[in-house]
Amino acid sequence: MKNHQTAESLRKTLANSYLLALKLQNYHWNVVGANFKTLHELFGAQYEELSTAIDEIAERLRTLGSKVDGTFEDFQKLSQIKSGNKNLASDAMIKDLIVAHEMLIEDLKLGTKAAQKEEDEATADLFIGRTTAHEKALWMLVSSL
Ligand SMILES: [Fe+2]
Repeated sequence: MKNHQTAESLRKTLANSYLLALKLQNYHWNVVGANFKTLHELFGAQYEELSTAIDEIAERLRTLGSKVDGTFEDFQKLSQIKSGNKNLASDAMIKDLIVAHEMLIEDLKLGTKAAQKEEDEATADLFIGRTTAHEKALWMLVSSL
């Protein structure tokens, strides 16, 4: 398969995105403290942005001819993003999300290079778009600390 690395990167991006989305939802539900409303809304908005992206990433894999992993077991095997902890203080939640966004950005940059090497500009474009979105999300989280 000529787009082997690109497809692998898409699979990993999907797994990372799914686990980060779940973590965001966890923190959207469970955050407490003086900044409750702001953080509840910020985490909710990031979750929603990501859940739209997840569908695009999965459907890009199908477009390239690969089946899509649709199980938590598969996602957990492919991603280093750990489960969230509902009892964290709000600052610890923000820091945990920052680490996850950074991991995703790192993988997305590798994915962009892989896609460009395999001359799949459309997937490279998707990865670049996702990098932009995660960098913006990261800015908002860092600024909330
Ligand atoms: Fe909600």
